Amino acid sequence: MSSQRVAQVADVYNLYHDGAVDLLVRFFREEGFSTPRDMIARNLQLILADQGCWTAVALEHGKAIGVITVTTMLYVEWGRLAEIGDLYVDPMHRGRGAGRRLVNAAIDWSRQRGCNGVYITLTPEGEARHRLSHFYQRLKFEPTGRTTMMFADLVRGGADETER
Ligand SMILES: CC(C)(COP(=O)(O)OP(=O)(O)OC[C@H]1O[C@@H](n2cnc3c(N)ncnc32)[C@H](O)[C@@H]1OP(=O)(O)O)[C@@H](O)C(=O)NCCC(=O)NCCS
Repeated sequence: MSSQRVAQVADVYNLYHDGAVDLLVRFFREEGFSTPRDMIARNLQLILADQGCWTAVALEHGKAIGVITVTTMLYVEWGRLAEIGDLYVDPMHRGRGAGRRLVNAAIDWSRQRGCNGVYITLTPEGEARHRLSHFYQRLKFEPTGRTTMMFADLVRGGADETER
């Protein structure tokens, strides 16, 4: 592992598509998610095809060693907000600024898209394994104090009207 800073962040397009999928597959496996590769690749395609989303890789010697995905949504309170959905740096390349470069690039993209903030949802597992709140606080993110909840039954068939 070299100690030089990671040189470049590039938008994901055909050239870096497979590298981005490889990194996302590793990320999900390492975090214990069983999401199959074809679903990861399919959802990445949806992100790439959507003007309100963005994906980039960090490059070293032309090889993708880190990846970030960003989506945007509209709110009455905030206008447009961006959310970092995925961020992963190859363990061999951590601690050399790739994560910071990717997040800063995501902030720049979000600003250009007219977003008024960038947020991140941290899981207890991510906090326990990687102290992610410390990482994001170093990058000037602040805790919101909000709790995120989700109705996930849409993919499992949805709740019956009578149950609501
Ligand atoms: C979190 C992660 C992306 C950081 O990537 P990285 O390339 O090692 O981070 P950087 O080298 O850019 O570090 C940026 C700053 O954060 C600090 N930092 C990095 N990881 C940190 C951690 N886990 N806890 C606290 N601080 C951390 C660095 O010391 C550095 O601080 P400084 O520049 O002010 O000295 C990487 O560890 C990773 O991929 N983890 C597993 C996947 C994951 O949990 N992703 C987040 C999903 S939301």
